[in-house]
Amino acid sequence: NISSNSDRLKPNELLMLLLANKGTYLSGEDISKKFGITRSAIWKQINSLRDIGYVIKSSPRLGYCLDESPDLLLPEEIWSKSDLTVLGSKIYYYSITGSTNEDAKKLAREGVPDGTLVIAEKQHKARGRMGRAWNSPDGGLWLSVILRPNFVPMDAPKLTIMTAVAVTEAIIQTTGIHAEIKWPNDILADGKKVCGILTEMSAEMDAINHVIIGVGINVNNNDFPDELKGIGTSLKQIKGENINRLALLSALLKKLEYYYIKAENEGFHEVFEKWRSLCINLGKKINITGKNDVFEGTAIDIDEFGALLVRTENGEVVRVLSGDVSL
Ligand code: BTN
Repeated sequence: NISSNSDRLKPNELLMLLLANKGTYLSGEDISKKFGITRSAIWKQINSLRDIGYVIKSSPRLGYCLDESPDLLLPEEIWSKSDLTVLGSKIYYYSITGSTNEDAKKLAREGVPDGTLVIAEKQHKARGRMGRAWNSPDGGLWLSVILRPNFVPMDAPKLTIMTAVAVTEAIIQTTGIHAEIKWPNDILADGKKVCGILTEMSAEMDAINHVIIGVGINVNNNDFPDELKGIGTSLKQIKGENINRLALLSALLKKLEYYYIKAENEGFHEVFEKWRSLCINLGKKINITGKNDVFEGTAIDIDEFGALLVRTENGEVVRVLSGDVSL
């Protein structure tokens, strides 16, 4: 069953072929020769694709023609739309899971390669920063990327900055919505949160084992629990129409891969420049709530490690590495 909860590492070759020839008839005979399977085996597979929402026309004379895909983030859909080299070499897809970051952690320990993706349509135990829960119903984009970068552990927080830039640019590019970054890693639109990023790392003193970047984007989900009303929103609520999740995901993966390869070869200069232009905090008065204290100041920049530089009232510049910022 194509939509089962088990991982789906073996690509469905028939689906890949149909996607590559969307809108065109493929004869049953050609398909059967290509894959060395019987016509009735093809018929069965076509029907299980139809069961999960694929609209496939069939004609005894012409064969099969894919007309429409369901709104699912299946690996074959991702591969057929994005031309990626590092990200998505392996994709684990779940219709429902606890938390993609938890799944990614297990997979990373088992040794999956750099760039492996874990994607779920829905999560029932998703986590946010600072031990908070993360609301993840159907309609959003919930994913984790497993990276094995060649940098030192101290550079890992820059991957969060990189991801925030990639998500913001992908939202702007695919929806036209004016998205902005709130330090350290929230993405806002219309003053409300549309995306959160949770980065987790396993490292030795001098080398990274792996970094897991969890990204949650409120795309077409509508319902927010009471405590999030006024704080969170979705791209659909802002735009007033459904957003194509696959187009947004492809744009995000493409940007993420571009900045990741660039960072490994040349560093984070470009990402930091982009971040500065997309960040809403710079030059503004902010309140920072840390683990033990709250203080006020003006955000002036980020330093080369991604820490926020805040000038306090007495003129002192403080480096802030974590915390919650309110405007
Ligand atoms: C935040 O607190 O802003 C970060 C939220 C991160 C949520 C994403 S959804 C996919 C991944 N899996 C999780 O359990 N969390 C992250």
